[in-house]
Amino acid sequence: MKSSKIIEKIRSMSLEEKIGQLNQIQLEDTEQIREEIRKGRVGSIILADTATAGNDEQKRIDMNLLNELQQIAVEESTAGIPLIFGRDVIHGHHTVLPIPLAEAASFHTELIEKAYRAVAKEAASDGVHWTFSPMIDISRDPRWGRCIEGFGEDPYLTSEMGKAAIRGFQGEDYKNTESIAACAKHYLGYGAVEGGRDYGKTEISDYTLRNYYLRPFQAAVEADVATVMNSFSEISGQPVASSRYLLHDVLKEELGFNGFIISDWASIAKLVSHRVAKDEKEAAMLAAGAELDMDMVDRCYIEHLGELAAEGKVSEETIDKMVYRVIYIKERFGLFEHPYAERKQINYEEHLSFAKQCADESMVLLKNNGVLPIGQSEKIAVAGPFLYEKRSHLGSWAPDYDAGMLKSIQEAFLDCADKDRFIFPQLPYLWDDILLTLREVNTVVLALGESARVSGENNCLTNIDFPAEQLALIKKIKAMGKKLVGVMCFGRPIALGEAEPYFDAILYAWQSGSCAAQSIADIVCGNVNPSGKLPMTFPRTTGQIPLYYNYPSFFGNGMAYYGEGDNYWDCKSTPMYPFGYGLSYTKFEYSEVGCENNTLTLEELQNGEKFRVSVIVTNTGKYTGKETAQCYISDLVSSMTRPVKELKGFSKIFFNQGECREITFELGFEELGFYNGSGKFCVEPGEFDVFIGGDCTTDNKVKIAVVDEK
Ligand code: NOJ
Repeated sequence: MKSSKIIEKIRSMSLEEKIGQLNQIQLEDTEQIREEIRKGRVGSIILADTATAGNDEQKRIDMNLLNELQQIAVEESTAGIPLIFGRDVIHGHHTVLPIPLAEAASFHTELIEKAYRAVAKEAASDGVHWTFSPMIDISRDPRWGRCIEGFGEDPYLTSEMGKAAIRGFQGEDYKNTESIAACAKHYLGYGAVEGGRDYGKTEISDYTLRNYYLRPFQAAVEADVATVMNSFSEISGQPVASSRYLLHDVLKEELGFNGFIISDWASIAKLVSHRVAKDEKEAAMLAAGAELDMDMVDRCYIEHLGELAAEGKVSEETIDKMVYRVIYIKERFGLFEHPYAERKQINYEEHLSFAKQCADESMVLLKNNGVLPIGQSEKIAVAGPFLYEKRSHLGSWAPDYDAGMLKSIQEAFLDCADKDRFIFPQLPYLWDDILLTLREVNTVVLALGESARVSGENNCLTNIDFPAEQLALIKKIKAMGKKLVGVMCFGRPIALGEAEPYFDAILYAWQSGSCAAQSIADIVCGNVNPSGKLPMTFPRTTGQIPLYYNYPSFFGNGMAYYGEGDNYWDCKSTPMYPFGYGLSYTKFEYSEVGCENNTLTLEELQNGEKFRVSVIVTNTGKYTGKETAQCYISDLVSSMTRPVKELKGFSKIFFNQGECREITFELGFEELGFYNGSGKFCVEPGEFDVFIGGDCTTDNKVKIAVVDEK
């Protein structure tokens, strides 16, 4: 449908039908809903039974019911506009991928895109048109349970991962019935909630907002994301749901977003809880005034917009603009051509192989005193509270998971060809039963972790230190003089300060989806070489939060990462493990960084010329393996304080034993620029250090300069 056709269509609609397009309701199998659809009072249905659908069991999707309701919309309503069905297909559908934070650790955007394509196909086959994913909120606080739903602390990594997910969901041909519309959420600044308390207040300057929190949304808009969801939170006194500046001026006008904005669950009505609106009618007026296009479940628009229009408080022209965006997305995603869902042939084996690859590449080897991979004929005890666990590996948001796909860690070890050398306690929680098993072995693999209940929406912690009861267990085991391998199945970064010295090796396995257990067994046994790198800084102790790598320099030597200094009496200032860090069973060596063209003029940069910086990486170890080379910049003198390091490129490459490869990164205006104190994106002439290495603490650098010849 051409834009003129959409405009024509809108002209033919009554005000009630228009407002209906802006109304998203919950699915119920009732006559009342059928009647509402028939009258054109519903534009979308969310397939969620509860407000926190990531935490609660959800009904499975009934495709026949969806098709029946769709038929009413298309054939019995006057406007005949199809409904768009949305569901939280966050990091998987029947096949579940690792939680997004773990996916980010893979640093493998092509793999993530491919895996999300598979997820889109599964969801589309169940009748889903639209997912509320990816979450691209920057999170610097692991107490915030939702940090697991995003891609970590860095704007560049989050942007790259977010774009990969969007490409996977939406595909190249949006009308293809295997494509679903994506939703970038939660716009904006949600990850900065104070104290990690979900839904809370944020205090973010425009400078920080533009340089960190907004960047992934800018990238999502560039990737043509179909929809954006506002956050529940407020920024510096302004709830996002009523911020015309953020929703209309910045997102739509400045960034050029042309899809539609959906409110998060009842967040229009919550303007009353924020006490910026006295009642839901006023809340509807404020949200529509901000041009928040579609109202999720609270019925503020359908109940009040008509009256507000009649009173002249919301213009019909504004409503038309919002309706246009909704119909435009329905049209782009082929709903007019293919309104009904049809089952597709799904190759689940292939999808599971994507989930396995994602899990293999997401797990991070944090420590290894030569104990991993385990010796080939050694007898090994595998124990710990996660030995027989399955569901927790999926993390939050897995409403459609296929339980038949899941294995426990014990089952995965029993699938190994040499399974007889593994012994297991019967009572994984009881130290006495575990110790009995240990008598026969020198090495124990302990599966530890947290359940999926303490992370995700509205599930936050004040203390992210390693769980005390599990620490007591490892102390007892270590007292027997055994070698201890910790396999850590946590959603968020955990402060390992006290626990770390007890381990000979630590594999951070996250909550890695349908194939988590198999990846753990494969990495521990050496069938897979770990290659994940941390997307979020691991503090030593909870009290260091917020701790993130892209921190500005201040006094001291001015170039110390993480504001390193002696500020704390009771803890070092440095993290336990820095951003970008992760070990491999093999070793990679980096040559010095080289640059073909150390100087460019500002004009050349503005005209698209780029610095090309390169390094030669060699696999000098005993295994084949993958390495993620990371490129960071440091703007040496600028009008505003800039981070000591900022990630601007990464490249994950497979190396045979002894192989060396040249890796080149290009840095142009976009990479070297920042939003200055007046909100203008600029490159300030002067010198930059460019670093290439295996994590953010690398010192391997070259200098480049931007000169202003005017
Ligand atoms: C609330 C959550 O904040 C959001 O992420 C989710 O997509 C919606 N509920 C719909 O379930």
